[in-house]
Amino acid sequence: MFKNDLLAGQRFLITGASSGLGRAAAELIAACGGQVLGAGRNAERLQAAIASWSGTGHVACVQELGNADATADWAKDLAQQHGPLNGIFHAAGTELLRPIRMSKQAQFDEAFGSAFFAAAGLARAAGQKGVMVDGGALVFMSSVAGSAGKVGMAAYSASRAAVEGMVRSLACEFAPRGIRVNAIAAGAVQTPMHDRITQGAAQEVVDAYASSHLLGFGEPGDIASAVVYLLGPAGRWITGTTMAVDGGYLCK
Ligand SMILES: NC(=O)c1ccc[n+]([C@@H]2O[C@H](COP(=O)([O-])OP(=O)(O)OC[C@H]3O[C@@H](n4cnc5c(N)ncnc54)[C@H](OP(=O)(O)O)[C@@H]3O)[C@@H](O)[C@H]2O)c1
Repeated sequence: MFKNDLLAGQRFLITGASSGLGRAAAELIAACGGQVLGAGRNAERLQAAIASWSGTGHVACVQELGNADATADWAKDLAQQHGPLNGIFHAAGTELLRPIRMSKQAQFDEAFGSAFFAAAGLARAAGQKGVMVDGGALVFMSSVAGSAGKVGMAAYSASRAAVEGMVRSLACEFAPRGIRVNAIAAGAVQTPMHDRITQGAAQEVVDAYASSHLLGFGEPGDIASAVVYLLGPAGRWITGTTMAVDGGYLCK
């Protein structure tokens, strides 16, 4: 779908690169000639992912993400060590299904930590000297839950809505340097996270969940293509927006 030298000579930080959407995006970026600094928590899973990508020079960056200050320092260090970044895709995040009556500070910290606070830290680093090249791009993972409600999703939805809100202001702040900032609101995509959410559910419940998407469940490659589109030259006039890649979930 994309030329194998589309991103040649460019460097990308991909969080959540050891699994699911981050891993698929990193693989496609590598297939387009980009160098990937791939981040995850589990070193073995991360190494296994990196070994499967094409090209050379990819780097495993083992890091727990959940705090804006620590994430900003970490991203700055990475850029100092490996050179400035052309793009960042922040896919690290976790699922959280819990009714509000059972949601404590710990659950809000969990939902906001990797998805929002880490995103804010990455953005802060990107605004500092030498971390991003002018004309680069940032893409943050969001979800249809950022704009559509569902039982048990209050904390998760709030964290994704926060990402989408932040993206609009970041776009304004970074535009003078030609840096674009966008989010992707994904519907249900078949990743390890999706497997954890659906495991144990009755088949008719899973079928109903699939058919709430006009085109059924998505595949990780569906999100990866959107990431490369937004990070690459085709996205040059797109900033401050949330692209729904949701198989028609939100249009109903
Ligand atoms: N799949 C979907 O249907 C879907 C839909 C909408 C939005 N999303 C969002 O997309 C993102 C990725 O989802 P996915 O389906 O790809 O999930 P996944 O398969 O579970 O992968 C999650 C990735 O994030 C990393 N990660 C999780 N928590 C982290 C933390 N605290 N610090 C650092 N890394 C962390 C994991 O690293 P380890 O491997 O080391 O644990 C893994 O690489 C999430 O934010 C999710 O909410 C997913």
